[in-house]
Amino acid sequence: MSKIVIANFKMNKTEQETKDYLINFLSRYEGYKANLILAVPFTSLPIAKFMLHGRDISIAGQNICEDEKGYTGEISGQMLVDAGASYVIVGHSERRVKFKEDNKVINKKIKNGLKNGLSIILCVGESLADKNTMKTLVSLKSQIEEALKGLYENELENIVIAYEPVWAIGSGKTPSSKDVEMAVKSIRKVVSDDFSSKAGEQIRIVYGGSINPKNISKFSNIDGLNGILVGTASLDGNIFMQIINSMT
Ligand code: 13P
Repeated sequence: MSKIVIANFKMNKTEQETKDYLINFLSRYEGYKANLILAVPFTSLPIAKFMLHGRDISIAGQNICEDEKGYTGEISGQMLVDAGASYVIVGHSERRVKFKEDNKVINKKIKNGLKNGLSIILCVGESLADKNTMKTLVSLKSQIEEALKGLYENELENIVIAYEPVWAIGSGKTPSSKDVEMAVKSIRKVVSDDFSSKAGEQIRIVYGGSINPKNISKFSNIDGLNGILVGTASLDGNIFMQIINSMT
């Protein structure tokens, strides 16, 4: 199975900047065999949809409202699909911390996304305090269990779990390959205990947090890890291409 490579542009790039990025990126991307997903800002979804038409590259939204309609400033699953997304990121730590999204609301967002036919990139990860008090695995377990509560096992096909230690995001710090391997194993165990051993084996898991071309070799060959989620280093198409090349 080809590795999953996800770019999260976060709150970066106007429509024109996304267009320029894709013109440059697509002229050199031909032929690579990564399972590529680009999470662009809402305002860039339509241009990404237009430019990626007919290509084997998926588009993701970066958030979804837990409800179908009704709230100022929110975006619905139907709107995301209409604008070209087939994935959506849910539970990113930036949203958990700044916008106070808890596991309950994350669970609702996941269900709403799935109902609208979107696949979900579910972000989980321990805080620095969790890490320092040896609570990484406890924290991952509760985030995953609460986020996936009430889902049918067959819905897990449409979920990618992104292991993103909060302290590694945008900090230049990364966990050791051994620590990522251990986190991946425990994520699989939680899914296996809550659903089935087959589900635990099959759930797709990626790592994210301060990935760059210099440290990518650390994450390209970890047992049980299906890919990566790249923030800052995806914003420059040339740098992102170097990372993709190291994964495929
Ligand atoms: P950085 O790669 O900038 O650390 O961001 C990771 C991230 O949050 C991706 O969702």
